[in-house]
Amino acid sequence: MPFAWTRSKPRNAAAGMRYVGSEQCKLCHFAICNTYSHTDMSRSTMLPQAVIEKGWLSTPIEFFNGNTNRHYKMVSRGSKIYEAEYELDTDGKEVFNHTEELAYIVGTGANGATPIVRRGNYLFQAPISYYTARATWDLSPNYERNDIGFTLPVSPECIACHAGRTQPVKGREGLFEDPPVVELGISCERCHGPGELHVRERTAGIVLRGRSDNSIVNPAKLPTWLADNICMNSRHSVE
Ligand code: HEC
Ligand code: HEC
Ligand code: HEC
Repeated sequence: MPFAWTRSKPRNAAAGMRYVGSEQCKLCHFAICNTYSHTDMSRSTMLPQAVIEKGWLSTPIEFFNGNTNRHYKMVSRGSKIYEAEYELDTDGKEVFNHTEELAYIVGTGANGATPIVRRGNYLFQAPISYYTARATWDLSPNYERNDIGFTLPVSPECIACHAGRTQPVKGREGLFEDPPVVELGISCERCHGPGELHVRERTAGIVLRGRSDNSIVNPAKLPTWLADNICMNSRHSVE
């Protein structure tokens, strides 16, 4: 379908444009950035120590799942958090123990959060998730009946929906460039597109012709069908 809005098409929609990160936007759009930093969306993916700061793991978690004959354990050591899955024989001796350090926490805790572990540049879901309604940790969705362990790869879609900027390797499920997550929370550029051009022109003080600055996407100026596709028409306000 041909674009009817070519004349005002944002120039940062062109190929090869670069991202600069939300910190850059703060230099000039301080109020918006400040308001936005208090939203759940801006905190959609967290580092593991946030779990400790939120008081979600004040005591170690330990439980057994009879369906799969697996024990689970979750502990913090300093600012690091570990999840373990293990099996015991009839004498109570460990048959195996698989322990992994958490790398990221997906979710704000509005409803819950699922941790992710990193092995090399591969990301996997962790077996124990946080459930806000019960204020406790329990098996991640689908782990109740299946012994998935730490083998479920994190799809590019999964982390892309929940983080700001990610670096999945095309066609390789669970594999990412280093670092896998460049910006944790949903960033300004997820809705406004790459910011380098806009920041360069505004920093250089290039005078705007007319009132519109088409060096960056302004969803308010897109056709409705396209704007609706940007984060389900979410927006921030600075009342
Ligand atoms: C050097 C200062 C500067 C920086 C850095 C900057 N902006 Fe801007 N931006 C401006 C100015 C000036 C305008 C035009 C006046 C206004 O709308 O406040 C503007 C306008 C905008 C607009 C509205 C465009 C229009 O006219 O429809 C958007 C959207 C925007 N900026 C987003 C961003 C984002 C996202 C970032 C970070 C990637 C960013 N800006 C970084 C100065 C800056
Ligand atoms: C198509 C986009 C999309 C994909 C893909 C996706 N999610 Fe979500 N997820 C959402 C939305 C939207 C919500 C609801 C946001 C809310 O209400 O907090 C949500 C909610 C959640 C929550 C609860 C968040 C909270 O803040 O309480 C968790 C945890 C979660 N998703 C984890 C995952 C994991 C892990 C994957 C990948 C295996 C995944 N999601 C894939 C969009 C997505
Ligand atoms: C979830 C999508 C989304 C995110 C994330 C987002 N914006 Fe916006 N932004 C919008 C939409 C939609 C509009 C147009 C409608 C409006 O003004 O609410 C807009 C408008 C703007 C404007 C022009 C209008 C104004 O209010 O001055 C600026 C500047 C802007 N955004 C900057 C930012 C910055 C800086 C960030 C990061 C802190 C950011 N935006 C994050 C969706 C988003």
